[in-house]
Amino acid sequence: MLHFRLISTLLLAATCLLTASGSTNSNNCLIVAPLSTHRVITCDDTNNVQRLRCEEGLIGVESALYGRSDSETCGEGKSVNELSNTQCSEDGTVDILKTRCDGQKVCEYKIGEVRPNDPCTGTYKYLNTTFSCFPVVNTVACENSLAILQCDQGKVIFVYNADFGRTDQTTCSYQRSAGDVQNVMCSGPTTKVADSCNGKNSCSIKASHTVFGDTCSSTYKYLEVNYRCQYPAITAP
Ligand SMILES: *[C@@H]1O[C@H](CO)[C@@H](O)[C@H](O)[C@H]1NC(C)=O
Repeated sequence: MLHFRLISTLLLAATCLLTASGSTNSNNCLIVAPLSTHRVITCDDTNNVQRLRCEEGLIGVESALYGRSDSETCGEGKSVNELSNTQCSEDGTVDILKTRCDGQKVCEYKIGEVRPNDPCTGTYKYLNTTFSCFPVVNTVACENSLAILQCDQGKVIFVYNADFGRTDQTTCSYQRSAGDVQNVMCSGPTTKVADSCNGKNSCSIKASHTVFGDTCSSTYKYLEVNYRCQYPAITAP
């Protein structure tokens, strides 16, 4: 009985992951509760800009439809022929937007940059994007300190982004010389934190050029990490 319950719990967790890769919120399977969910619809034109923004938390794109699923949306001034196909959608749009926007606070792009192909010539299309804002933990470790990432019991780390460098003059500036902190164009995005911390309950990593390499050697740097804590993916028994 115990085994059966354990297995069904694991299957439930697996179902959640399959349906929404870590961020779904259907009735029984809450992986991470979003702070809020939003929808943006932008009518098709190469140069039209779509903007996603989280006031609190960071963007996780949930779904994106490039095509048409009703005959009214963005219909102004269009002919019946251009609006009649309501079964039109381009696969893969959501992955393009996830790559571009997940983990950002604000994300802007032109429609022309994110529509991979034309799924239905002759139909006037739009881009319908649903995204959530997820709670985020922000941690900063000054150069040669340890960054410590930690989640509550039962949850694991998922790193949105990490940067070893300097992008402002105040962070980690205490009693440093002006020369140490003046270069604020020293950004060094890295996937090393994600590589070594994702899926763990806690993790520490040294904010050091020996780990991350030296993007601007005369600047005193810091490691800034944005991550969230989520229930783990299913693991092999
Ligand atoms: C936009 O996408 C959402 C989520 O898939 C869907 O529920 C909604 O009907 C769509 N709206 C339009 C106008 O396509």
